Amino acid sequence: MKQAKIIGVGHYLPDNIVTNDDLSKLMDTSDKWIQERTGIKERRFIKEPYEQSTAIMGFEASKMAIDRAGIKPEDIDLIVFATMTPDYYFPGPGVIIQKLLGIGHVGAIDVRAQCSGFMYGLSIADQYIKTGMYKTVLLIGSETQSTALDLTTRGRGTATLFGDGAGAAIIQASEEEGKGILSTHLHSQGEFAEKLYMKTPGTGKTKFIYDGIEKDYDNIFGYMDGQLVFKNAVVRFPQAVMEELNANNLSLDDLDMFLPHQANLRISQFAQRTLKLRDDQIFNNIQKYGNTTAATIPILLSELWAEGRIKEGQVYVLAAFGSGFTWASALIKW
Ligand code: ACO
Repeated sequence: MKQAKIIGVGHYLPDNIVTNDDLSKLMDTSDKWIQERTGIKERRFIKEPYEQSTAIMGFEASKMAIDRAGIKPEDIDLIVFATMTPDYYFPGPGVIIQKLLGIGHVGAIDVRAQCSGFMYGLSIADQYIKTGMYKTVLLIGSETQSTALDLTTRGRGTATLFGDGAGAAIIQASEEEGKGILSTHLHSQGEFAEKLYMKTPGTGKTKFIYDGIEKDYDNIFGYMDGQLVFKNAVVRFPQAVMEELNANNLSLDDLDMFLPHQANLRISQFAQRTLKLRDDQIFNNIQKYGNTTAATIPILLSELWAEGRIKEGQVYVLAAFGSGFTWASALIKW
């Protein structure tokens, strides 16, 4: 059986930096509150006239990943696009990437697993490559959160957490035994679907209603039970790491790097303490970008790649947890 290897990663972040102090001019919050609870110092937001979008940022990240992988766009034979903030309700942004890259009529799969979307997509790419159906997959995680946040005091419990950005990876078939994506695991727990969700536009038990925020607040903005998310996330991240290591007969001593989805710095630190990881075994960048949902993990990878910190033979575990609830992970040997 073939192995699937990540051969290039890229990212894209809007230039517009929004600090905690900037947010405190829009709502009753403070740099101190946000940093203490989340670790976030600033995030990026696209801004009017909105020339960027989830698809456009995904395209920019893809160009960097293609360049670093040393492939040509036409080598790509499958596009997988993970996002919870698509440009359109339908179609998903995967097809827009096919158009922007100007490549042949390859398949474009849109993944809706929110914060876990990139990890679900990685598993999909891995499986298509292992079966031999595709050779070179472009995987994107991209999000535009800013245009869907309530940037008033009422929305401060969630609006302070999120940012815009994109990351991408090229995953290719390899003959090298024992290297590349060695395992992936996917999970869901739908009993908590309504604990972190956005109700519309959806077609279940509701009508499309856009006639006033006061009346339909819960229909228009995302809802999050922050404490429940926190309690579950701090359990699922360590479980996911151990699931990957156990599946490969490895231990925490073998782990060179844990890349957690950047939900909240406190969640990452909690997981680090539970697993007793050294500071050099975990990488966080939520301080600079906030939570970019499906884009956090490829942005982390791309920054490490740019710094030359990813070394051949190293063992990485990537893990995400989020709305659904869903959680998912992968173990990679570079
Ligand atoms: N600025 C100032 N005050 C605020 C803000 C804000 N941005 N947001 C809420 N508050 C206030 C509340 O109104 C409340 O005030 P009150 O005591 O007068 O009623 C007080 O702060 C405490 O509110 P809580 O919601 O209880 O605050 P908590 O300590 O739980 O922190 C937080 C909220 C940061 C969201 C926390 O629950 C958390 O970290 N949860 C994890 C959620 C998460 O990380 N989600 C990421 C997205 S999902 C994912 O990626 C997995």
